[in-house]
Amino acid sequence: MNEPVTDLSILQITDLHFLPCLNETFLGINTEHSFLAVLELALVENRTFDLIIVTGDLAQDPTQESYFRILQYLEAIQIPCICLPGNHDDIQLMQQIFDTPLVSCRNQVLLGNWQLIFLNSQIQGAPGGRLSNQELCFLDDSLSSQPDHHALIAVHHHCLETKSAWLDTMIIENSLELWAIIDKFPKVKIITNGHIHQLMDIEHQGVRVLGTPSTCFQFKPSSTNFSLDAFAAPGYRKIKLSSNGSIETFISRMPEPLKGLQVDSLGY
Ligand SMILES: [Fe+2]
Repeated sequence: MNEPVTDLSILQITDLHFLPCLNETFLGINTEHSFLAVLELALVENRTFDLIIVTGDLAQDPTQESYFRILQYLEAIQIPCICLPGNHDDIQLMQQIFDTPLVSCRNQVLLGNWQLIFLNSQIQGAPGGRLSNQELCFLDDSLSSQPDHHALIAVHHHCLETKSAWLDTMIIENSLELWAIIDKFPKVKIITNGHIHQLMDIEHQGVRVLGTPSTCFQFKPSSTNFSLDAFAAPGYRKIKLSSNGSIETFISRMPEPLKGLQVDSLGY
């Protein structure tokens, strides 16, 4: 008899860009208010999730205070949560603060017959992405050790081009090494990233590769230089993982784009 299909429900939120003080604004907007609105939207639309994954750039300028405020918000909703670092984050601070039974920076979790692997693509002091040998070995070992589990990989930087030249200067520079490992493991079904502040949904080497809107400002697709999107609202991604290895995913956005966004900004 076939086993019954059971689903896991994952919430991905990304690129929160919290500022040191609650009332500060950045690029004309309050990133913290925007994050709270997106989180509320996700919970109203879905009621609950099995796991929340936060795929980097939690802070714009990392401080203990901003990470503590994020921790408070995440703990309050009582859903397990895993946070990974982006180029703006302070990994050591994150590991110190996100270290509770509910909220952590752990790099692997088994849920049902799925393995979720969290990679650190940060190059310290630089905006672009790279996977160290340690991260690549960890990925290879994790996939080797769970041959019967379907796999999801979450990582901050993108591993496929976006068609935005300025963003693609920050692509994981050794992504071919990542793809060489993935090629050995057909159980890898999905890679989801942050950093690009826009939607991506590409099938590559049998893997669904996803980009997700930021909880604050969005980048304009197909741009040569840094460019904010005045018309795309903040949002989140829901990922439904079935025990038979199939995936369903969608993004949901706030009803309106951010008001006051300084679209003529030249960088972030
Ligand atoms: Fe980033």
